Amino acid sequence: MTPRKILVTSALPYANGSIHLGHLVEYIQTDIWVRFQKMQGHEVHYVCADDTHGTPIMLRAETEGITPEQLIARVWQEHTRDFDAFHVEFDHYGSTNSDENRFCAETIYLALRDKGLIEVRSIEQFYDPVKNMFLPDRFIKGECPKCHAQDQYGDNCEACGAAYAPIELINPYSAVSGAKPEMRHSDHYFFKLSADTCQDFLRDWTRSGTLQAEAANKMQEWLGTEGDNKLSDWDISRDAPYFGFEIPDAPGKYFYVWLDAPVGYMGSFRQLCNNSIGKQGSQPDFNEYWQPDSTTELYHFIGKDILYFHALFWPAMLEKAGFRTPTKLFAHGFLTVNGEKMSKSRGTFITARSYVDTIGNTEYLRYYYAAKINGTMEDLDLNLDDFVAKVNSDLIGKYINIASRCAGFIAKNFDGKLGETDSIASAEFKSAYLEGGIAHCYEQRDFARALREIMRLADVANQYIAEQKPWTLAKEAGQETKLHIVCSTALTLFRDLTLYLKPVLPVLAGQVEAFLNIAPLSWTGHWQALPAAHTINSYQHLATRLDPKLIAALTAANVESLKPATHSPARHAEAQQHTLTPIAETISLDDFSKIDLRVAKIINAEHVAGAAKLLKLTLDIGEENTRTVFAGIKSAYDPAQLKGRMTVMVANLAPRQMKFGLSEGMVLAASGEMPGLFILSPDDGAQPGMRIK
Ligand code: 2FM
Ligand code: ZN
Repeated sequence: MTPRKILVTSALPYANGSIHLGHLVEYIQTDIWVRFQKMQGHEVHYVCADDTHGTPIMLRAETEGITPEQLIARVWQEHTRDFDAFHVEFDHYGSTNSDENRFCAETIYLALRDKGLIEVRSIEQFYDPVKNMFLPDRFIKGECPKCHAQDQYGDNCEACGAAYAPIELINPYSAVSGAKPEMRHSDHYFFKLSADTCQDFLRDWTRSGTLQAEAANKMQEWLGTEGDNKLSDWDISRDAPYFGFEIPDAPGKYFYVWLDAPVGYMGSFRQLCNNSIGKQGSQPDFNEYWQPDSTTELYHFIGKDILYFHALFWPAMLEKAGFRTPTKLFAHGFLTVNGEKMSKSRGTFITARSYVDTIGNTEYLRYYYAAKINGTMEDLDLNLDDFVAKVNSDLIGKYINIASRCAGFIAKNFDGKLGETDSIASAEFKSAYLEGGIAHCYEQRDFARALREIMRLADVANQYIAEQKPWTLAKEAGQETKLHIVCSTALTLFRDLTLYLKPVLPVLAGQVEAFLNIAPLSWTGHWQALPAAHTINSYQHLATRLDPKLIAALTAANVESLKPATHSPARHAEAQQHTLTPIAETISLDDFSKIDLRVAKIINAEHVAGAAKLLKLTLDIGEENTRTVFAGIKSAYDPAQLKGRMTVMVANLAPRQMKFGLSEGMVLAASGEMPGLFILSPDDGAQPGMRIK
């Protein structure tokens, strides 16, 4: 067999959030497939990296008071620690913020430009005049033009599901500063995906067996048929301030994060090639893997939500820039927990770290995921009760049980030495194996079927033990040889099952290899029985049952992770996004009722000459005269936006003489560690002067 040369990737996780069990569906899936291919003797390189660029990461670093470089360095440590814990073994885990990635992104961009596939056009976009930056759609909020729900994002409404352009929002405001955004012009760089040459290429590429059937159908919808020209050009630039790579010869213009993210696959591989120079053994050649006529294979494992980027933009970029295109994309569905979307309030938005801290054994999750992964784009459900049941019944009850029932006799009765094996039982097992096509199932990424077949074989082995009853043989005189054969046969079958499970359970397989005192298991030549007189080591507990109580602890830990008491310097990025100021000391109802809160209508709002932070508000609270309040909300609100709005004020606060005049109360506003300041509004129907209790 000539070994295949295979480059495999998983999608690059963003460098501003923690790895959670949703992410792990993909990494575990890819890792199992890679381990399987390596065990077949192929040359496989598995690369990934943190996806580090873009506005959210830039703003996140600012909020934390650190540089983006500091933020991504810290998150890189957290991510790699989590991947290690789940035994996801990359050959290289890099960062998109690397010299190699910059080189690859620039090379691709310049090649596209030389081909006339880059065009500069002026576009209009919302601009935040307080933060002095253009706002991505997700950073503009306002009232939904369809259902009028408040505080909806610039691209779609979470209340009614409508999709629209940010310009259609009613009363838009910047989610960064709260300011009213302005429309401004800017030159943007576009990749001309609408060019016939791109659309024709993509039509061929998406139909050429590179995609699963479901994905190919989706592409068909997006691409239409010949002459349809459905694709628009792709905007690949963003204006400063932006954390990313500046575009060559375009000062102040940066590559959009989604341009250099897939290029990150190349960048990370390039780092791998550079790092392994001088090392013995594998030293992959970058060009061999990326040249247009490469005979190597390239596979991207991705979630179905990012198919558009991987099946349209990415192959078109590669093809037109003179590189090879992916051999296949393997798209998968989303994770649900207990049949529902992961939820922070229910504690089912489970971080990788909390799993490690509460459950510990990460191979249990690898096993459960593998039992459900079938190579399609269907969603995968982690049912927590089923998880416990499956681990305990299959892994412990069927597989581990084989060794734990037989190993003791070898140690005690035969001084740790194996005997002959039962050729009939071994032949039955072999034929059951051959029927199952386990290796084919792995190759097809139908791990669910592979594990069903493996458990069927475990049943064959268990049945053999149940029929032979070694525990009875051990008590009967003259049955030593038979006992020796039965236990040696069972342990040989256990060895074979371990081989089949090794891509899923690499650590456990390593422990079994140590216990059986054998070389690392490989897929070829495993039919030889463990030889007679081979000495095995004494049996140590390989795995214990999963205690259902740990599941309650796991979900509790994830509900807990949003509470302030769980803060610690090592907390992951995700949780830090939700830090709360500690809740103040308890007060009595009497204390609370001393505060007279009233619904107030903002009759007028104006800037105050010389005041950096204040706006002057004139409020109607149902009294004969209006009240004047100086409120520190200038950074977040444009006065024009406030006129006519209802809000809430403290009506019995002692008046305060300020430099600019007398302030007769206080309006209420929410703020946290994230940027932004938000004044309160009562629900529709509340009238000025109504008391809030
Ligand atoms: O959707 C995401 O999480 C992206 N960070 C995935 C990028 S995959 C690749 F293109 F880099
Ligand atoms: Zn709506």
